[in-house]
Amino acid sequence: MNLEEMKVQFDAIRKDVLASLEEVKTLKELDQIRVQQLGKKGPITEVLKNIKNLANEEKPKVGALANELRSFLEEKIASVKEVLEAKALEEALQSETIDVTMPGRPVERGTAHVLAHVQDQVEDFFIGLGYQVVEGPEVESDHYNFEMMNLPKDHPARDMQDTFYITPEYLLRTQTSPVQARTMEKHDFTKGPLKMLSPGRVFRRDNDDATHSHQFYQIEGLVIDKHITMSDLKGTLAAFAKEMFGEDREVRLRPSYFPFTEPSLEVDISCFKCGGEGCSVCKGTGWIEVLGSGMVHPNVLEAAGVDSSVYGGFAFGLGQDRIAMLKYGIEDIRSLYTNDVRFLSQFTKES
Ligand code: DAH
Repeated sequence: MNLEEMKVQFDAIRKDVLASLEEVKTLKELDQIRVQQLGKKGPITEVLKNIKNLANEEKPKVGALANELRSFLEEKIASVKEVLEAKALEEALQSETIDVTMPGRPVERGTAHVLAHVQDQVEDFFIGLGYQVVEGPEVESDHYNFEMMNLPKDHPARDMQDTFYITPEYLLRTQTSPVQARTMEKHDFTKGPLKMLSPGRVFRRDNDDATHSHQFYQIEGLVIDKHITMSDLKGTLAAFAKEMFGEDREVRLRPSYFPFTEPSLEVDISCFKCGGEGCSVCKGTGWIEVLGSGMVHPNVLEAAGVDSSVYGGFAFGLGQDRIAMLKYGIEDIRSLYTNDVRFLSQFTKES
Protein backbone atom coordinates (compact mmCIF):
# COMPACT_ATOMS: atom_id res chain seq x y z
CA MET A 1 0.00 0.00 0.00
CA ASN A 2 1.46 3.34 -0.97
CA LEU A 3 0.86 6.75 0.56
CA GLU A 4 -2.06 7.59 -1.71
CA GLU A 5 -3.77 4.33 -0.97
CA MET A 6 -3.27 4.88 2.71
CA LYS A 7 -4.89 8.32 2.51
CA VAL A 8 -7.85 6.71 0.75
CA GLN A 9 -8.11 4.17 3.55
CA PHE A 10 -7.98 6.89 6.18
CA ASP A 11 -10.78 8.74 4.39
CA ALA A 12 -12.82 5.58 4.25
CA ILE A 13 -12.35 5.03 7.97
CA ARG A 14 -13.36 8.64 8.64
CA LYS A 15 -16.55 8.26 6.60
CA ASP A 16 -17.31 4.90 8.11
CA VAL A 17 -16.98 6.15 11.67
CA LEU A 18 -18.94 9.34 10.95
CA ALA A 19 -21.70 7.21 9.43
CA SER A 20 -21.92 4.94 12.44
CA LEU A 21 -21.91 7.94 14.77
CA GLU A 22 -25.03 9.11 12.95
CA GLU A 23 -26.73 5.88 13.88
CA VAL A 24 -25.52 5.39 17.41
CA LYS A 25 -28.27 5.36 20.07
CA THR A 26 -26.69 4.44 23.36
CA LEU A 27 -23.53 5.20 25.29
CA LYS A 28 -22.71 1.52 25.22
CA GLU A 29 -22.83 1.40 21.42
CA LEU A 30 -20.72 4.55 21.29
CA ASP A 31 -18.08 3.00 23.47
CA GLN A 32 -18.01 -0.09 21.27
CA ILE A 33 -17.36 2.12 18.22
CA ARG A 34 -14.55 3.91 20.02
CA VAL A 35 -12.84 0.68 20.99
CA GLN A 36 -13.30 -0.95 17.60
CA GLN A 37 -12.21 2.02 15.53
CA LEU A 38 -9.54 3.71 17.61
CA GLY A 39 -8.25 0.75 19.59
CA LYS A 40 -5.01 -1.16 19.05
CA LYS A 41 -6.74 -3.68 16.84
CA GLY A 42 -8.68 -1.08 14.91
CA PRO A 43 -8.48 -0.16 11.20
CA ILE A 44 -6.12 2.80 11.72
CA THR A 45 -3.53 0.53 13.30
CA GLU A 46 -4.11 -1.92 10.46
CA VAL A 47 -3.31 0.75 7.83
CA LEU A 48 -0.25 1.91 9.75
CA LYS A 49 1.22 -1.56 9.55
CA ASN A 50 2.00 -0.77 5.91
CA ILE A 51 4.25 2.12 6.88
CA LYS A 52 7.31 -0.05 6.65
CA ASN A 53 6.89 -0.20 2.83
CA LEU A 54 7.02 3.56 2.43
CA ALA A 55 9.94 5.80 1.68
CA ASN A 56 11.49 7.32 4.79
CA GLU A 57 10.33 10.89 4.04
CA GLU A 58 6.74 9.68 3.62
CA LYS A 59 6.60 7.93 6.97
CA PRO A 60 6.14 11.03 9.20
CA LYS A 61 3.35 12.27 6.92
CA VAL A 62 1.40 9.08 7.44
CA GLY A 63 1.96 9.35 11.18
CA ALA A 64 0.68 12.92 11.18
CA LEU A 65 -2.35 11.94 9.10
CA ALA A 66 -3.15 9.07 11.45
CA ASN A 67 -2.87 11.33 14.50
CA GLU A 68 -5.01 13.97 12.87
CA LEU A 69 -7.66 11.36 12.02
CA ARG A 70 -7.53 9.91 15.52
CA SER A 71 -8.00 13.23 17.27
CA PHE A 72 -10.71 14.25 14.81
CA LEU A 73 -12.64 11.06 15.59
CA GLU A 74 -12.00 11.32 19.32
CA GLU A 75 -13.50 14.79 19.29
CA LYS A 76 -16.50 13.62 17.32
CA ILE A 77 -17.04 10.71 19.69
CA ALA A 78 -16.71 13.05 22.69
CA SER A 79 -19.35 15.40 21.34
CA VAL A 80 -21.74 12.54 20.53
CA LYS A 81 -21.09 11.26 24.04
CA GLU A 82 -22.14 14.59 25.50
CA VAL A 83 -25.38 14.52 23.54
CA LEU A 84 -26.14 10.94 24.57
CA GLU A 85 -25.39 11.65 28.21
CA ALA A 86 -27.71 14.63 28.23
CA LYS A 87 -30.37 12.45 26.61
CA ALA A 88 -29.90 9.68 29.21
CA LEU A 89 -30.18 12.19 32.03
CA GLU A 90 -33.32 13.63 30.52
CA GLU A 91 -34.83 10.16 30.25
CA ALA A 92 -33.94 9.31 33.83
CA LEU A 93 -35.50 12.53 35.04
CA GLN A 94 -38.64 11.76 33.08
CA SER A 95 -38.99 8.18 34.27
CA GLU A 96 -38.11 8.92 37.87
CA THR A 97 -40.37 11.92 38.24
CA ILE A 98 -41.99 12.09 41.67
CA ASP A 99 -45.50 13.36 41.88
CA VAL A 100 -45.24 15.54 44.95
CA THR A 101 -48.97 16.15 44.91
CA MET A 102 -49.76 12.46 45.50
CA PRO A 103 -51.27 11.83 48.96
CA GLY A 104 -48.78 10.17 51.34
CA ARG A 105 -49.23 6.95 53.24
CA PRO A 106 -50.72 7.87 56.60
CA VAL A 107 -48.47 7.19 59.60
CA GLU A 108 -50.55 5.82 62.44
CA ARG A 109 -49.43 7.49 65.63
CA GLY A 110 -49.91 5.47 68.76
CA THR A 111 -50.69 6.79 72.20
CA ALA A 112 -49.28 5.66 75.50
CA HIS A 113 -51.48 3.22 77.39
CA VAL A 114 -53.93 4.83 79.82
CA LEU A 115 -52.20 3.01 82.69
CA ALA A 116 -48.93 4.58 81.60
CA HIS A 117 -50.55 8.03 81.72
CA VAL A 118 -51.69 7.41 85.27
CA GLN A 119 -48.26 6.12 86.26
CA ASP A 120 -46.63 9.21 84.73
CA GLN A 121 -48.96 11.55 86.60
CA VAL A 122 -48.43 9.81 89.93
CA GLU A 123 -44.68 9.64 89.45
CA ASP A 124 -44.43 13.28 88.37
CA PHE A 125 -46.29 14.39 91.47
CA PHE A 126 -44.23 12.38 93.94
CA ILE A 127 -40.91 13.03 92.23
CA GLY A 128 -41.81 16.69 92.74
CA LEU A 129 -41.96 15.97 96.48
CA GLY A 130 -38.51 14.37 96.39
CA TYR A 131 -39.47 10.71 96.11
CA GLN A 132 -37.32 8.26 94.17
CA VAL A 133 -38.89 5.63 91.90
CA VAL A 134 -37.73 2.08 92.66
CA GLU A 135 -38.66 -1.13 90.87
CA GLY A 136 -38.63 -4.68 92.16
CA PRO A 137 -38.97 -8.21 90.78
CA GLU A 138 -42.35 -9.60 89.69
CA VAL A 139 -41.26 -13.09 90.70
CA GLU A 140 -40.74 -12.50 94.38
CA SER A 141 -39.79 -14.64 97.33
CA ASP A 142 -42.25 -15.51 100.05
CA HIS A 143 -39.72 -13.90 102.35
CA TYR A 144 -40.07 -10.41 100.85
CA ASN A 145 -43.66 -10.60 99.64
CA PHE A 146 -45.05 -11.82 102.94
CA GLU A 147 -42.67 -12.41 105.83
CA MET A 148 -40.87 -9.07 105.64
CA MET A 149 -44.29 -7.46 105.41
CA ASN A 150 -45.24 -8.85 108.80
CA LEU A 151 -47.19 -11.75 107.35
CA PRO A 152 -45.59 -14.90 108.74
CA LYS A 153 -46.34 -18.30 107.23
CA ASP A 154 -49.85 -19.51 108.14
CA HIS A 155 -50.96 -15.99 109.05
CA PRO A 156 -54.68 -15.77 108.22
CA ALA A 157 -54.26 -12.41 106.48
CA ARG A 158 -52.40 -14.21 103.69
CA ASP A 159 -55.83 -15.33 102.52
CA MET A 160 -56.51 -11.74 101.44
CA GLN A 161 -53.95 -12.25 98.71
CA ASP A 162 -54.26 -15.73 97.26
CA THR A 163 -51.55 -16.04 94.74
CA PHE A 164 -49.58 -18.10 92.24
CA TYR A 165 -46.70 -20.04 93.74
CA ILE A 166 -43.89 -21.13 91.48
CA THR A 167 -42.10 -23.08 94.19
CA PRO A 168 -42.89 -23.14 97.93
CA GLU A 169 -40.55 -20.14 98.25
CA TYR A 170 -41.14 -18.21 95.02
CA LEU A 171 -44.36 -16.67 93.78
CA LEU A 172 -45.74 -13.98 91.52
CA ARG A 173 -45.82 -11.00 93.88
CA THR A 174 -49.24 -10.09 95.19
CA GLN A 175 -48.31 -6.51 96.00
CA THR A 176 -45.58 -3.94 95.37
CA SER A 177 -45.02 -3.68 99.14
CA PRO A 178 -41.98 -6.04 99.12
CA VAL A 179 -40.06 -3.32 97.29
CA GLN A 180 -40.37 -1.30 100.53
CA ALA A 181 -38.45 -3.96 102.42
CA ARG A 182 -35.82 -4.36 99.72
CA THR A 183 -35.22 -0.61 99.61
CA MET A 184 -35.24 -0.08 103.38
CA GLU A 185 -32.62 -2.81 103.81
CA LYS A 186 -30.25 -0.94 101.51
CA HIS A 187 -30.98 2.61 102.63
CA ASP A 188 -28.45 4.44 104.77
CA PHE A 189 -30.66 6.41 107.18
CA THR A 190 -27.75 8.42 108.53
CA LYS A 191 -27.65 10.13 105.11
CA GLY A 192 -31.30 11.24 105.18
CA PRO A 193 -34.90 10.09 104.92
CA LEU A 194 -36.18 7.44 102.54
CA LYS A 195 -38.95 8.63 100.24
CA MET A 196 -39.81 6.13 97.58
CA LEU A 197 -42.44 5.20 95.06
CA SER A 198 -42.65 1.74 93.58
CA PRO A 199 -44.90 1.13 90.59
CA GLY A 200 -45.39 -2.32 89.12
CA ARG A 201 -47.43 -5.31 88.15
CA VAL A 202 -48.92 -7.63 90.74
CA PHE A 203 -50.81 -10.92 90.55
CA ARG A 204 -53.72 -12.46 92.43
CA ARG A 205 -55.55 -15.73 92.06
CA ASP A 206 -58.73 -13.95 91.09
CA ASN A 207 -61.35 -14.74 88.49
CA ASP A 208 -61.44 -11.98 85.92
CA ASP A 209 -64.61 -9.92 85.77
CA ALA A 210 -65.47 -6.24 85.34
CA THR A 211 -63.74 -5.26 88.58
CA HIS A 212 -61.21 -8.08 89.12
CA SER A 213 -58.16 -9.07 87.17
CA HIS A 214 -55.60 -11.77 87.93
CA GLN A 215 -52.93 -9.18 87.21
CA PHE A 216 -53.05 -5.46 87.70
CA TYR A 217 -50.85 -2.52 88.66
CA GLN A 218 -50.09 -0.94 91.99
CA ILE A 219 -48.06 2.01 93.08
CA GLU A 220 -46.52 1.77 96.50
CA GLY A 221 -45.33 4.79 98.46
CA LEU A 222 -43.12 4.90 101.52
CA VAL A 223 -41.60 7.64 103.66
CA ILE A 224 -39.30 6.78 106.58
CA ASP A 225 -37.54 9.35 108.72
CA LYS A 226 -37.48 10.64 112.28
CA HIS A 227 -40.66 12.37 113.48
CA ILE A 228 -43.04 11.39 110.70
CA THR A 229 -46.65 11.61 111.84
CA MET A 230 -50.03 10.71 110.51
CA SER A 231 -50.65 14.34 109.61
CA ASP A 232 -47.73 14.07 107.16
CA LEU A 233 -49.56 11.14 105.61
CA LYS A 234 -52.86 12.98 105.46
CA GLY A 235 -51.31 16.13 104.03
CA THR A 236 -49.42 14.18 101.37
CA LEU A 237 -52.47 12.20 100.28
CA ALA A 238 -54.69 15.31 100.30
CA ALA A 239 -52.28 17.09 97.97
CA PHE A 240 -52.11 13.98 95.80
CA ALA A 241 -55.92 13.70 95.60
CA LYS A 242 -56.17 17.31 94.44
CA GLU A 243 -53.51 16.71 91.83
CA MET A 244 -55.21 13.62 90.41
CA PHE A 245 -58.89 14.45 90.86
CA GLY A 246 -59.17 18.23 91.10
CA GLU A 247 -58.63 21.10 93.51
CA ASP A 248 -61.88 20.61 95.43
CA ARG A 249 -61.16 17.07 96.56
CA GLU A 250 -61.26 16.33 100.26
CA VAL A 251 -59.69 13.33 101.94
CA ARG A 252 -61.27 11.08 104.56
CA LEU A 253 -59.37 8.47 106.51
CA ARG A 254 -61.14 5.35 107.79
CA PRO A 255 -59.65 2.73 110.08
CA SER A 256 -58.73 -0.48 108.33
CA TYR A 257 -56.34 -3.40 108.59
CA PHE A 258 -53.12 -4.20 106.80
CA PRO A 259 -50.50 -6.40 108.40
CA PHE A 260 -47.66 -4.01 107.55
CA THR A 261 -49.16 -0.81 108.99
CA GLU A 262 -50.42 0.16 112.40
CA PRO A 263 -52.69 2.00 112.46
CA SER A 264 -53.98 1.16 108.99
CA LEU A 265 -56.24 3.40 106.99
CA GLU A 266 -58.51 3.26 104.02
CA VAL A 267 -58.39 6.56 102.16
CA ASP A 268 -61.48 8.03 100.53
CA ILE A 269 -61.76 11.16 98.44
CA SER A 270 -64.88 13.26 98.06
CA CYS A 271 -66.65 12.23 94.86
CA PHE A 272 -65.30 14.14 91.86
CA LYS A 273 -68.48 13.49 89.90
CA CYS A 274 -71.16 14.82 92.25
CA GLY A 275 -68.96 16.74 94.69
CA GLY A 276 -70.27 14.71 97.63
CA GLU A 277 -74.03 14.73 97.13
CA GLY A 278 -74.21 11.12 96.04
CA CYS A 279 -74.27 9.65 92.55
CA SER A 280 -73.67 6.38 90.72
CA VAL A 281 -69.87 6.78 90.77
CA CYS A 282 -69.74 7.05 94.58
CA LYS A 283 -72.72 4.71 94.99
CA GLY A 284 -74.67 7.43 96.76
CA THR A 285 -72.13 7.88 99.56
CA GLY A 286 -70.34 11.00 98.34
CA TRP A 287 -67.00 9.28 98.94
CA ILE A 288 -64.76 7.10 96.81
CA GLU A 289 -62.20 4.72 98.21
CA VAL A 290 -58.90 5.23 96.40
CA LEU A 291 -56.11 3.61 98.37
CA GLY A 292 -54.84 1.84 101.46
CA SER A 293 -52.25 3.29 103.78
CA GLY A 294 -51.02 3.57 107.33
CA MET A 295 -48.09 4.11 109.65
CA VAL A 296 -45.39 1.53 108.99
CA HIS A 297 -45.54 -1.32 111.51
CA PRO A 298 -42.48 -1.53 113.79
CA ASN A 299 -42.10 -5.20 112.85
CA VAL A 300 -41.64 -4.19 109.20
CA LEU A 301 -38.99 -1.64 110.15
CA GLU A 302 -37.12 -4.04 112.43
CA ALA A 303 -37.22 -6.87 109.85
CA ALA A 304 -35.47 -4.53 107.41
CA GLY A 305 -32.88 -3.57 110.03
CA VAL A 306 -34.33 -0.14 110.80
CA ASP A 307 -34.42 0.95 114.46
CA SER A 308 -38.14 1.46 115.10
CA SER A 309 -37.45 3.43 118.29
CA VAL A 310 -35.79 6.14 116.20
CA TYR A 311 -37.38 5.91 112.76
CA GLY A 312 -40.92 5.61 111.56
CA GLY A 313 -43.06 6.64 108.68
CA PHE A 314 -46.05 6.05 106.49
CA ALA A 315 -46.85 3.89 103.53
CA PHE A 316 -49.60 3.73 100.98
CA GLY A 317 -50.57 1.48 98.15
CA LEU A 318 -52.84 2.49 95.33
CA GLY A 319 -54.34 0.52 92.48
CA GLN A 320 -53.25 2.11 89.26
CA ASP A 321 -56.11 0.42 87.40
CA ARG A 322 -58.64 1.72 89.90
CA ILE A 323 -57.32 5.27 89.59
CA ALA A 324 -57.46 5.03 85.79
CA MET A 325 -60.99 3.63 85.87
CA LEU A 326 -62.22 6.34 88.23
CA LYS A 327 -60.48 9.15 86.47
CA TYR A 328 -61.49 8.21 82.94
CA GLY A 329 -64.85 6.57 83.67
CA ILE A 330 -63.73 3.10 82.53
CA GLU A 331 -66.27 0.51 83.59
CA ASP A 332 -64.53 -2.78 82.88
CA ILE A 333 -60.98 -3.47 84.09
CA ARG A 334 -60.58 -6.04 81.31
CA SER A 335 -60.60 -3.29 78.69
CA LEU A 336 -57.21 -2.23 80.10
CA TYR A 337 -55.71 -5.58 79.07
CA THR A 338 -57.50 -6.68 75.90
CA ASN A 339 -55.64 -4.12 73.78
CA ASP A 340 -58.45 -2.92 71.58
CA VAL A 341 -56.85 0.01 69.80
CA ARG A 342 -60.20 1.77 69.44
CA PHE A 343 -60.43 1.84 73.22
CA LEU A 344 -56.78 2.64 73.93
CA SER A 345 -56.48 5.44 71.39
CA GLN A 346 -59.06 7.54 73.25
CA PHE A 347 -56.54 8.33 75.94
CA THR A 348 -53.94 10.91 75.14
CA LYS A 349 -51.60 12.58 77.56
CA GLU A 350 -53.81 15.67 77.64
CA SER A 351 -57.11 13.89 78.28
N1 DAH B 1 -50.27 -3.94 99.64
C1 DAH B 1 -51.65 -3.55 99.83
C2 DAH B 1 -52.52 -4.40 98.96
O1 DAH B 1 -52.05 -4.96 98.02
C3 DAH B 1 -51.83 -2.10 99.51
C4 DAH B 1 -51.26 -1.27 100.60
C5 DAH B 1 -52.05 -0.88 101.63
C6 DAH B 1 -49.95 -0.90 100.57
C7 DAH B 1 -51.56 -0.13 102.65
C8 DAH B 1 -49.42 -0.12 101.60
C9 DAH B 1 -50.26 0.25 102.64
O2 DAH B 1 -48.16 0.26 101.63
O3 DAH B 1 -49.75 0.99 103.64
O4 DAH B 1 -53.69 -4.49 99.21
